[in-house]
Amino acid sequence: MQAQEALTTLQGKGFLVTPGAAKLILESQNPAELVTIIEANCNQKWFVEPRDLLPKEEAKLAQVVERADVVVEHTDFKPLAKEYDSQVRVLMNVDHEESASTGTLEDFVDYFKNRYEDISLLLRGRGENSIVPINELARRRGQSVAVIGMVNDKRQTKNGHLLVEVEDPTGKLTALVMKTNEALIKSASWLVNDEVVLLDGKLSKDLFIINKITEPDVPLREMKTTEDRVCFAFLSDIHVGSKLFMRKNFEYLIEWLHGKHGNERERELAGRIKYISLAGDLCDGIGVYPSQENELEITDIYKQYEALENYIIQFPDYIHVVVAPGDHDAVKHADPQPKLPKELVPNLYGRDNVSIVSSPAMVELHGLKELVYHGTSYIDFMSTIPGVSAEHGGLIMKEMLKKRHIHPIYGGKPITPEKKDSLVMREVPDIFHTGESHCFASDFYRGTYLVNGGTWQDLTDYIVMQGFKATPCILPVFDAHRGKATAIHFDGVVQSSKLLTAGGG
Ligand SMILES: [Fe+2]
Ligand SMILES: [Fe+2]
Repeated sequence: MQAQEALTTLQGKGFLVTPGAAKLILESQNPAELVTIIEANCNQKWFVEPRDLLPKEEAKLAQVVERADVVVEHTDFKPLAKEYDSQVRVLMNVDHEESASTGTLEDFVDYFKNRYEDISLLLRGRGENSIVPINELARRRGQSVAVIGMVNDKRQTKNGHLLVEVEDPTGKLTALVMKTNEALIKSASWLVNDEVVLLDGKLSKDLFIINKITEPDVPLREMKTTEDRVCFAFLSDIHVGSKLFMRKNFEYLIEWLHGKHGNERERELAGRIKYISLAGDLCDGIGVYPSQENELEITDIYKQYEALENYIIQFPDYIHVVVAPGDHDAVKHADPQPKLPKELVPNLYGRDNVSIVSSPAMVELHGLKELVYHGTSYIDFMSTIPGVSAEHGGLIMKEMLKKRHIHPIYGGKPITPEKKDSLVMREVPDIFHTGESHCFASDFYRGTYLVNGGTWQDLTDYIVMQGFKATPCILPVFDAHRGKATAIHFDGVVQSSKLLTAGGG
């Protein structure tokens, strides 16, 4: 099989080959073998990226480096990251004073109007037909047109069709996906309330028959990389102050960052970590869930943050640390969450190598735009989209990117209406870091690295009650120079964690 034939075969099977992967196929000595590998690697996705060309075992190795059992004190640790200056720009940090709302009906109307307008801009020019306001549809009955609407509801009819109710500033519309159009029924099953979509179709009698659904999505790009050989590491849901915080594993991690553990390869990797972001649930908080006091080791909120500060201060000082809050932290729990105030972490405010930000926040680190968000909306996605659970962090983050909104569903986990909806993903991140699910995730989507920092807390009753799965003490590391991800397992290094069957929050 010739290389061009291999590309045609893949396209015929519905795969979308990224330019980077296409280049590798065209240069390959054995394109037929690559087609077989791609089919095996991409049985659940359509985009073929360069890493999908590796045989499954190699791809796995490229993804996860198991911790070696070498535990030796080293004195010759020369971290490469120390040679580079930190390059940090906070691009988006929600200013809660400026965006404050009083919660009146007008505030809610303005909030959704802003969301609709900003996402509409991303959708214009994307449909197959000209866009028509809903109140003009009657005049265009029978013609192929497009509408941009915010989803109000979707439900199945008695006959198995799917009704989607949408709204724009001019009116409401009931649209229908025919049950015979299986592909469209499938894509409509991913729609959630309050997201903004473009629907191509035509009005027949009083029903708008949908032919195509377009979400705003992010453009297909190659993963951006850095010239310097820097790495990023990701933490979330540490839950300092909880009896279940895996303190010894975390302290081992800090020693590992200082090159005190691991084989040569690990120490080299540890020494290249230039940035660490923390995506919320830094401390366990107080009174967050019923009977939490039984699971708290530190019962004073200020002492919890003091303990957190002491850990962050022990990180190597050439590492820049980005700190965002989560729903266990002692700030407002509704999205967007404000940054930790100075009275909680006075010692972090005084440090040049720490940026304290809101959730969400966009920070440019070494030229890469990183979106940090705790992930409070995870549970809304899990309860809305069938089959999606806490282990599917990559999938949930992809949905946020496709919808260009990190918390679209209103009425579940709380959202504060703002004048400008800061949960709209106006800029496309190179790295998207979340937490909340307590499940490690690492994936790529259209040139964005998606990562969930998992957790450093063992199972709590609250976590069991929510019925998630947890993967404590796995550190995701992104090599920004090579554009490759890996993960270091610290789960078995000090104390064996329980066999985890549930988790979250
Ligand atoms: Fe958490
Ligand atoms: Fe949380």
